[in-house]
Amino acid sequence: MRMVDLIEKKRDGKALTKKEIRYIIEGYTAGEIPDYQMSAFAMAVFFRGMTEEEMAELTMAMVDSGEKIDLSEIKGIKVDKHSTGGVGDKTTLVLAPLVASAGVPVAKMSGRGLGHTGGTIDKLESIPGFHVEIDNRQFVRLVNQNKIAVVGQTGNLTPADKKLYALRDVTATVNSIPLIASSIMSKKIAAGADAIVLDVKTGSGAFMKNIEESKKLAKAMVKIGENVGKKTIAVISDMSQPLGFAIGNALEVQEAIDTLKGEGPEDLTELCLTLGSYMVYMAEKADSLEKARKLLEQSIASGKALETFKTFVSAQGGDASIVDDPSKLPHSSYTFELKAKEEGYVNEIAADAVGTAAMWLGAGRATKDAAIDLAVGLILHKKIGDYVKKGETFVTIYSNQQDIEKVKQILYDSIKISNNKTKKPVLIYETITN
Ligand code: URA
Repeated sequence: MRMVDLIEKKRDGKALTKKEIRYIIEGYTAGEIPDYQMSAFAMAVFFRGMTEEEMAELTMAMVDSGEKIDLSEIKGIKVDKHSTGGVGDKTTLVLAPLVASAGVPVAKMSGRGLGHTGGTIDKLESIPGFHVEIDNRQFVRLVNQNKIAVVGQTGNLTPADKKLYALRDVTATVNSIPLIASSIMSKKIAAGADAIVLDVKTGSGAFMKNIEESKKLAKAMVKIGENVGKKTIAVISDMSQPLGFAIGNALEVQEAIDTLKGEGPEDLTELCLTLGSYMVYMAEKADSLEKARKLLEQSIASGKALETFKTFVSAQGGDASIVDDPSKLPHSSYTFELKAKEEGYVNEIAADAVGTAAMWLGAGRATKDAAIDLAVGLILHKKIGDYVKKGETFVTIYSNQQDIEKVKQILYDSIKISNNKTKKPVLIYETITN
C-alpha cells in the first residue's frame, strides 16, 4: 500500500477500506507517514467526507493507537458524558455527583480549558486541596466506593488523535465533521465508556455555529457509537449565550454547588436534568426517562446530590467545607460593576466574546501551558430576553487587576441591548438517538 494512492482515492471521493484506514493511522502514529501526506489526506477528507463505515473504522483505529483505560473492575454500566465545549459550561461539576447519587458509576476523565472555553479540571482545582492526578487503581477504588471520581487525562490515550488534531489545527482542517466526530468518540471509547451521552453545543460560543451543522455532527457521532457497539445519544443544546450566569473557575464551582442545592440557574438545571436522565436511563438505574428525571429531582431535593459532591471532593483531597462556606474558595481582589448605558432588552450575549473577556481577566489560557487565575471571572445578571434599566448592573467583573478597560469594552460590544423584545433562546433543540 502507498499513502499517495490513498490520498488520491479520497481526493476522488471514494471510500477507503478498513485495511486502508488502519494503514494510514498506524503509519502516521509510528511516524512512517509524514505530516505533509497526512495534511493532504485531512484536506481530502475535509472536502470529500467519509462514509459511516469509514468513520467507525477511523475511530477504532485511533482508539487502538494507544492505551485504553480498563474500567472492567467497576461494577455497573459506565456512562460517560461529553460536551463539545462552551462558555460557562459547568455541567460536569453538577452532573457527575448528581447521577452518582442515583447509583450511576461516574469514572470521568476531563480536560483543561483552552481559548475562550473552560475545562472541568481547572474548575475542580479551584477547590483547595483537590487532586486531579490519581493512579488507575485508586481511580477504580474511588468509583467503586463512592460511585464517582473525576481525573485529568493520564496515559497515552489516542496518540493518533493527539498528533492528527495538532496537524489539523495548523492546516485548516479542524472543522470537518468526520474528523471531529472520530476524534471525540475515540477519546471516549479509549477512556472506557460503555455508553456515551453527548452534549453537542450550537451557537456563537460553540464549534458548530448553526443548528444544521450541529445536527450533522451529532448524527455522525451517534452513528459511530452504533457501528462500534457503544450506545450513544446526543442532545443538541444552546450555546448562543453562556450557560448559567457564572464564567470563571471558582465562580463556576460556586454556581454548580448552588445548582446541586436546587438554587441554580434555570438553564443549567434543566440541561443537567436532561443529560442526567439519559445517563441514569442508559445505566439502567431507571426504566424510563421520566423515572430517571424524578430520581434526580428527588436527589437534589433531599440533599443527596450535594452530599455526594462533598464525599467526592473529600475523597480527592479537597476541602468539602467550601460547600457551606464559599469564602474558602479563591476570591479576587477587586470587583467592578458594569452598568447599562441604556434601557432595553438584552438581544445578544455573544458567548465566544464573553469567554474571551474572562480569558483577558486570567480565567482562561491563550496557550496550552499558560497559568490561569482561578479566582477571576464574570457573573452575568441578565440573559437574552431580560429587561435592563439604564444604569442597572448587568455584569459583575471579578478581577485581580485594576485596569480592566479592555474587558469592559469587549463586554459592552458583545452584550447588545435595544428596544426590540427578544425571545429567550431555545435551550434544548433536539435529541439524536439511534
Ligand atoms: N474536540 C475534539 O476532541 N476533537 C475535535 O476534532 C474537535 C473538538
